[in-house]
Amino acid sequence: MGSRSASMHGMWSSRAVFIMATVGSAVGLGNIWKFPYITGEYGGGAFVVVYLICIALIGVPIMMAEILLGRRGRASPIATMKRLTREQHSSPLWTLVGYSGVLAGFLILSFYSVIAGWALAYVFDSAAGGLNGITADGAGQKFGDLVGSWQTLLLWHTVFTLMTIVVVARGVKNGLERAVTVLMPALFIMLLIMVGYAFIEGDFARGFGFLFNTDFSKVFQLCTGTPEALNCEFTGEPVVVAMGHAFFTLSLGMGAIMAYGAYVPDHASITGATLTIALADTVVALLAGLAIFPIVFASGLEPSSGPGLIFQTLPIAFGNMPGGQWFGTLFFVLLVFAAWSSSISIIEPAVAWLVDSRGWTRGVAAFAVGGLAWLIGIGSVLSFNLWSGEEYQLFGKTIFDLKDFLASNIMLPLGGLLIALFVGFGAGRQMALEELSISRQRLFDAWWFVIRFVSPVGIVIVFLNSIKAFG
Ligand code: PHE
Repeated sequence: MGSRSASMHGMWSSRAVFIMATVGSAVGLGNIWKFPYITGEYGGGAFVVVYLICIALIGVPIMMAEILLGRRGRASPIATMKRLTREQHSSPLWTLVGYSGVLAGFLILSFYSVIAGWALAYVFDSAAGGLNGITADGAGQKFGDLVGSWQTLLLWHTVFTLMTIVVVARGVKNGLERAVTVLMPALFIMLLIMVGYAFIEGDFARGFGFLFNTDFSKVFQLCTGTPEALNCEFTGEPVVVAMGHAFFTLSLGMGAIMAYGAYVPDHASITGATLTIALADTVVALLAGLAIFPIVFASGLEPSSGPGLIFQTLPIAFGNMPGGQWFGTLFFVLLVFAAWSSSISIIEPAVAWLVDSRGWTRGVAAFAVGGLAWLIGIGSVLSFNLWSGEEYQLFGKTIFDLKDFLASNIMLPLGGLLIALFVGFGAGRQMALEELSISRQRLFDAWWFVIRFVSPVGIVIVFLNSIKAFG
């Protein structure tokens, strides 16, 4: 067996703690904020189906690969890749995965903390009764006022970045770990209640149909405008976005899961853990969709209204249900925690690398990485106000959109591709066999085939298809 020492960064106390932490990383704004709004933008059911296929055929096998690499290397993703390329006598170029992951982490945190900041702002607004009795127009206005003020966004962006830094500085295991164990189940129950509300008060049939009725002609089209005057263009963009989101929502392709995998106990089953994590993540996203779209349709809102979608719809529910003031506050608190347990994993690869390869202390490393992400994040803050105009856009996208597009839809899938190829071809079959220790040979063979051929080919086809469509 390979290196069997403990990681210098500490170890999870059990397999269950690892699963909790990784669910904490996976479940976040991606599920509750991003999934509904991109599903709305890219037309609903068909997009959801492509996303689910990507989770099953690309996400799950690559998550197993990331965890096994992490556990084998027991270090930061960059150091792990260095170690394993040496151990497996393969090219040091594979280490690029580690570096690109660190870069993607900066990009992701730099917009993630801005959106988490919106959630923080809504915690206080809701607690102060600001959502009571709110109408659809009022909710739209409130959201517009929030993102229109760069000072307010900067404040909450700063607060959330500091929250992330503090936890990462203390080490992933202390503090947040314990909180997440209670808060994630609470978020889940809260979402169920929201779905119940949407069922009674919203246009549930239409919301449900939007999420699950599949019109595949839409998958390759990007439609804008109102339902009456729809303007559709042929493009591979929805498929690229669906695949990118599968990576984003499972925290894959950038080393976050590899970093967490480094702290996994030796004999824990990787397959079982991965299935649990992927299932929990998917269920939370679908529940969020079921909670939001019925309200969207009942309130006459547009599903394609963009990143503000949940902030314009959920307040209508909270504002008009009994006890909504506290209910809403609690919901946004839980959303902040979900984002928090994800954001720490976004910078963990960079911080762990500065600690194990550069000899920095954890505290200094966390501040440096968080500080730099904060600085880049100012561009995301301004994208919604001072720099929202066309003169500040590239390819019709603001800085915020560009960072998300580049990181989620290009860097994460490319990182995932390299991870799959390294495990499948760069390293030996023996390494995977030892780490996964799947007792049923058939199951291992199936995964081995998928990780070597199905996932990589899938990623490449999606990319080629989009190039063809764009060209
Ligand atoms: N998976 C997280 C979410 O869905 C985001 C994330 C991306 C976390 C990449 C870590 C790495 O919110």
